[in-house]
Amino acid sequence: MKVSSEQVVDLLRAAGESTRLRVLALLAAEELSVLELCRILDQSQPRVSRHLKLLAEAGLVERFPDGAWVFYRLALKSPGRALVGQALDLIDIEDPAARADAEKLALVRAERTAGAQAYFARNAARWNEIRSLYVDEAEVEAAILQAAGEGPFDEMVDLGAGAGRMLTLFGSRANAALGLDLSQQMLNIARDEVAKAGLGQCELRHGDIFATGLPGGCADLVTVHQVLHYLGDPAAAVAEAARLVADGGLLLIADFAPHDHEFLREVHQHRRLGFEDAEIAAWIEDAGLVPGSNIALPPTSAEGLTVKIWTARRSATTSAERSAA
Ligand SMILES: C[S@@+](CC[C@H](N)C(=O)[O-])C[C@H]1O[C@@H](n2cnc3c(N)ncnc32)[C@H](O)[C@@H]1O
Repeated sequence: MKVSSEQVVDLLRAAGESTRLRVLALLAAEELSVLELCRILDQSQPRVSRHLKLLAEAGLVERFPDGAWVFYRLALKSPGRALVGQALDLIDIEDPAARADAEKLALVRAERTAGAQAYFARNAARWNEIRSLYVDEAEVEAAILQAAGEGPFDEMVDLGAGAGRMLTLFGSRANAALGLDLSQQMLNIARDEVAKAGLGQCELRHGDIFATGLPGGCADLVTVHQVLHYLGDPAAAVAEAARLVADGGLLLIADFAPHDHEFLREVHQHRRLGFEDAEIAAWIEDAGLVPGSNIALPPTSAEGLTVKIWTARRSATTSAERSAA
């Protein structure tokens, strides 16, 4: 994308200040809330907000409010994206300031993960009760099965498997299934659940949704059910999930539509209060899949939440395309 020389000067001016370059480097790693940026930069909120405003006005970052929090991320489609990328690439990895910021970011991330891990460890035993508090589980599960289709699936991978509900739901529709989760406590419950259901084809492994270590295209069904809203970088999780989808295979994501139940952050470790359709569709497309059905299941009570089910497919590569590649 080409822009005028005047616009290039504006972009350089916006990025050309030490705190703002630090902010761009941090957001290149993942989306962050204003408070997290203040902690990492060790600067007051008004100062950080002023820098963010200038970066947003130049189109280098995107601001998105989420309940009472405000998040920022790099604007991937901005004309300044390549310029920012080049500036960040020039920074020596041994640069003391850049290293200090990266270390603080790792600390913030570790605290966030530890908080969520502690929550799941505490609540593993009563997870099935908690998960049905705000949604009609039976309706959601019927809609998931319908959206995925009859199968049978050769290889299912369930990311953030928790207590194993997706594995038991799909049951014998999957000839082989692998559930990955970071929480050993959740995995233990899931192992019991699949054993009780007589699903010998299900395997449960400790694993991180951001780095599954599984080969690309290994599954014809990948599910991510009620996991994205806990994550610091949901886009990266969608990219990893999509990478696992085989030619012609299906990715199924279930999560909440945008809501304002702020207490879910305080009490239940949610990070994002739901997702816009456009946001999920952009992540799916960036990951090389084709968005499919998009189902909304509205709540039955005022305290309830709208559950969304998004599907996407990797187009089947024809043998002609494969030999041309
Ligand atoms: C709300 S539970 C959902 C569990 C299951 N999918 C379900 O719907 O019942 C979210 C699960 O995601 C797991 N999780 C969170 N972060 C993860 C990560 N980075 N990698 C793998 N699992 C993760 C948690 O340990 C937890 O078991």
